[in-house]
Amino acid sequence: MTLQDLQKKYFNRIDRLDLDLIIAHVLKKNREFILTNPKQHLGFFQLIKIKSLISRRIKHEPLAYLTGHKEFYGLDFQVNRHTLIPRPETELLVENVLRLLGQNRQQKNSKHNQTNVSTYVSNSILIDIGTGSGNIIMATAKNLKKSKIQYLAIDQSRQALKIARKNAHQHQVDQKIKFLQGDLLKPFIKKYSSQIENLSSIIIAANLPYLSQEILQSASVDVKKFEPESALLSPQKGLGHYEKLFNQIQKIHLNNPKLPITVLIEYSPEQKQDLQEMIKKILPESQSDFQKDLSGLWRIAQINL
Ligand SMILES: C[S@@+](CC[C@H](N)C(=O)[O-])C[C@H]1O[C@@H](n2cnc3c(N)ncnc32)[C@H](O)[C@@H]1O
Repeated sequence: MTLQDLQKKYFNRIDRLDLDLIIAHVLKKNREFILTNPKQHLGFFQLIKIKSLISRRIKHEPLAYLTGHKEFYGLDFQVNRHTLIPRPETELLVENVLRLLGQNRQQKNSKHNQTNVSTYVSNSILIDIGTGSGNIIMATAKNLKKSKIQYLAIDQSRQALKIARKNAHQHQVDQKIKFLQGDLLKPFIKKYSSQIENLSSIIIAANLPYLSQEILQSASVDVKKFEPESALLSPQKGLGHYEKLFNQIQKIHLNNPKLPITVLIEYSPEQKQDLQEMIKKILPESQSDFQKDLSGLWRIAQINL
């Protein structure tokens, strides 16, 4: 059977792009090769593998789990069923972390004039909470080559951390990033308690589970059936994880009132109002700034203490 025969056979049962990418994955070629070599003959074992992946895709298993890879911020990340598949909208979170850490270091941050950007350069720590495949912290570390900042990635899922460590190795940032398993900031508070007072600032990036039960129910079968619920679902209309995180941050702030803390989070557009009220209540001394994504939907919040 040739590539063309296979494409004809399945063209109305599976998305054409997905089909091409499955074939490309099995043949270890790029999509261009698939498009330009219709007469390429497929071997017996290649066909078995391709057909098995097609039938899994027809049953809604996401392409990224079939190939084991997803591109994020121009980098390739290994993923599996224990990690969320990185979403393009999360690149905006990375943009914001890089803006915060990489912008003109002499310049004061005008909107948040409490925090001088130069304080982020040395003896600061960037903590990625709910790191999953490690996409946020690694995209940051790869793009901030000269920074002396410490990097810490936390997740409660041991299996997700296994994948994150593999990705760190692949991207050669495994010497830079420390990984800890546990609940939100707890492992940081435990392990760094004696060092916190010596830090010049803490930057927290978090894309935590934020879907309410209702929104998760309305998600596609690909998401509901295959992505880990522990990476998606949060109680209290999807804001349970952030509420807990803000309470942990407030404790650190009360114990270290002079330490600048900046928090960047991703959330669902309809949560903006509730989130704003929650931040005012739990972190009364903070200043916050809300940002829309490229589709004009509320997506990112920056909180400064
Ligand atoms: C929405 S996923 C984000 C994954 C990745 N950062 C990304 O952007 O694709 C949320 C992650 O938070 C982790 N998580 C859930 N509850 C947690 C908790 N209480 N403490 C630490 N991590 C948690 C999940 O295991 C999952 O990896």
